[in-house]
Parts: sequence; structure tokens; C-alpha cells
Amino acid sequence: MSGMLKEIVGAPDRHDLPGGVGVISWAPEDEPEFLAEVAERERARVELQRRGIVHGSWAEIRTDGLCDVGAADIHAWRQRWADARPILLRGMLDSTLPGFAPVLKQRMALHKTIRDEGALDGFLEASLERLDPRFTVRGAEESARLGEQAGGDGQRDLERRFLSFDTDGDAKAGPNYWVKTQRLSDHEEDMSARIRLSFGQEVDDDASHDEAGHRTIEQLGRELLPETALLRDNRDLLTLLGELDLVEEAAEDSDSGNPAPPPPSGEHYFTQDIAFWNAPNGGVLMHHDAFDEDYNERQRGVVYAQLSGETAWLALSTQELAVRVTEFVEYIDEGEMPWLKAALFRGHQGATLMRKILKGGRFVYAELEKPGCGQLSRIVNRGPEFTNLLADAGHAFLMRPGDVLLMPNHGLGHTLLHSVFCASPEPGYSLSMAVRRAAE
Ligand SMILES: [Fe+2]
Repeated sequence: MSGMLKEIVGAPDRHDLPGGVGVISWAPEDEPEFLAEVAERERARVELQRRGIVHGSWAEIRTDGLCDVGAADIHAWRQRWADARPILLRGMLDSTLPGFAPVLKQRMALHKTIRDEGALDGFLEASLERLDPRFTVRGAEESARLGEQAGGDGQRDLERRFLSFDTDGDAKAGPNYWVKTQRLSDHEEDMSARIRLSFGQEVDDDASHDEAGHRTIEQLGRELLPETALLRDNRDLLTLLGELDLVEEAAEDSDSGNPAPPPPSGEHYFTQDIAFWNAPNGGVLMHHDAFDEDYNERQRGVVYAQLSGETAWLALSTQELAVRVTEFVEYIDEGEMPWLKAALFRGHQGATLMRKILKGGRFVYAELEKPGCGQLSRIVNRGPEFTNLLADAGHAFLMRPGDVLLMPNHGLGHTLLHSVFCASPEPGYSLSMAVRRAAE
């Protein structure tokens, strides 16, 4: 045995998830001794491809005896929550619950027609008997008019319908609620899609602190996507969130001497539902889900659940990604993987970017705060070289049906960055929701 596997997995700067399962990258041209070591410990292997770009091959392996990461217990999760690192709860959901199989069947059928005109209306009609009569679905014309005001991603949006919610006989009192279908990319072979629920103006209201609005979306989510109850009514998940996301004491406002408004301290709830179909050749580029918003009232994170199919993930904190980007560019600067200098740092602009990264300081962090990682976007999405570097540093994992992922968020500069690939030959179905905290 060459011991190379132990060198990678046991490296002091590798950060495996607890639980004795890890992911490493491999290539057919690797040393036979190394490939034999991998094969001996292998649980699964996956070829990564996203939007036509090959990101290499990963193996999921048993890591016992190679590294000491400890048990997947509350102490480990608390530290990871505080560090804005991923919390993977394997097999948390019981997708064998009665009633779940027919819903999944409907969702897979919906995915097949979601790009056809009228698919969203069909989905809404099929849910009408569960829908609170206080909701009124607006027609196509009115939705188009409201859609012009609310903004959106014209290129990837498929269809959108607005709904009003009648409170005390006044349907105009609340914000506009909406449901839309979207593609995830423009790539021809990527059949990934999603349904998204939210309210108000796109972008501007994505981080809304209007709890009544979020609570109405929560209700709409329960009625349109009843499978979200697997998360929403999951006592274990809610208890864990309560144990991880501790509420700070209300601090005094130092200028006025008055106590600052208390942070929300009630139960966690889930809002702004997204139902995803991650299809082969699809996935999501590196990004975070944080906003520039008040710390106390912030979105506490995002919860993701895999209900069918498999996905492959890279997920790490802002701080960890900053370290890895710098390390990667240092390698390139030293002349390793020489083709990368031409691919990522071409010309005068490229040289300037490289210099800024190598200088250290605030630049890398500031770019990682931006949507899609700003000027670092091509680096953090570079496969297979950067993808493999992250996997070998312990930032990769696979998700299977029943697995739940908690993505902590402590604000723009201290959050979880993540990138997703489809890892199954068929499209997989999953849910993701924003985690918020109720006012007491
Ligand atoms: Fe995300």
C-alpha cells in the first residue's frame, strides 16, 4: 500500500464531516496503488459533469483509521454551526411514510411537463382542494401585469402566477404572493428545474423581515407542497435547530443607553420554499444564500432535503473558501497546472486579478460576499482542478434520499458557500427552504 490515501484524508488541514464517511477525487491515470486503496474503502463513485463541463471523478470512502473526526453528535454540530460549515444529517427523513410515494410520483410526472405552457396552472389546479379559500390565484393576464412590477429572471423563468391572501375580508391588505417555475441554467442538455414560492419584489424582498408575509408563504408551502411537512413537522430537526441557533441576550445600544430591540427568540420556521429537480448535467454554481441585512433578524440559514435521486456537493464556510482560493492561486503562481494560468488569468486583467488574490487581505472575502462570488466566479467553478482540490480538502459529500443538510448563515461575510452537481442517472427531487426565527 502506498499510503497516499492516508496522506490525503489524514492531512491536518483536511476537514471531514463527522461520521466516518468522506469523499476524495481520483482519476484513471492515478497510481495503481492509490486506486487500489480507494477501491478497498469505496462505498460509491460518481462522475461529475455540470452544464457540459467535466468536473472529474469522486469516490465516497470509509475514513475510519485514516482521520480522527469524532462522532456526529451535538458538540460537533454546534461547532460547525458556529463556523458556518455544513451540517449533514444522513437519513433523517422517513420517506417511507404513507402518502409520500404518490406525491413523489406526481412530482416526477410534473418535471416531465414543466417546460410546457400551462404546466404551472395544472400544478395549482391539482392542489386547489388543499388550498385555503382565502387564497385567490390571479389569472395569466393579471399575473403578467404584476410580474412586470415584481421583477424576475426573464431568461430562466418559465411561468408565474400571483396569489392574494384575504385577511379580515381585505384581499389587498397583504403583499402579493407568487409561485413560479424556472429552469436552472440555459444549457440545452440541462433539464433541471424548480418551483419557487415567495412574496413581494424579487431581490428586494428576498430578505424581507415581514414575518406575517413569511408565515403566509409557510402556509402556502404546506398546501402546495405537502411533502414539506417532512421537514416542517420534524420535531428532531426543530429541536436541533433550537440547540444550534442560540439567541444572544439583547445588547444595550451603546449610543443611547437604551436596550436594543430583542432578537427573535421564538421557534424556527421554514419559508420561501423551493422544490428542485436536479437533472444530469445540471446543478448549481458556487454561491451563498446570505443577504445584507440586520444580524439579529437575519435568515438563520437554509435547509435542504434530498427526496429522490442523488446529488454531489461542495460546501464550506466563507473563511474556508477564501483559504482554498488563495492556496489554488499560489499553486498556479508556482507554475503547477500551467494551463490554468492561461485559462483563468489571461492578459492584463488576469494578471491584476491574480496579484490581488495573492496579496491577501480583504479582496478575496469581498468578492466571495458578492452574488456568484464576483470576480472569483471562474476560479471557484473551475473543474476538475478546483473541484478536486476542495474534495480532497474534505469539503465534498453525497446526498441520498432522506438526507437533510443544514446550511448555517451568520451574515454576508460568514456564511456557507455551496455548489451542487447531479449524481444520479435520473433527475432527483429535493426541497429547500429558508430558516427563520419567529418573534416570541
Ligand atoms: Fe443555495
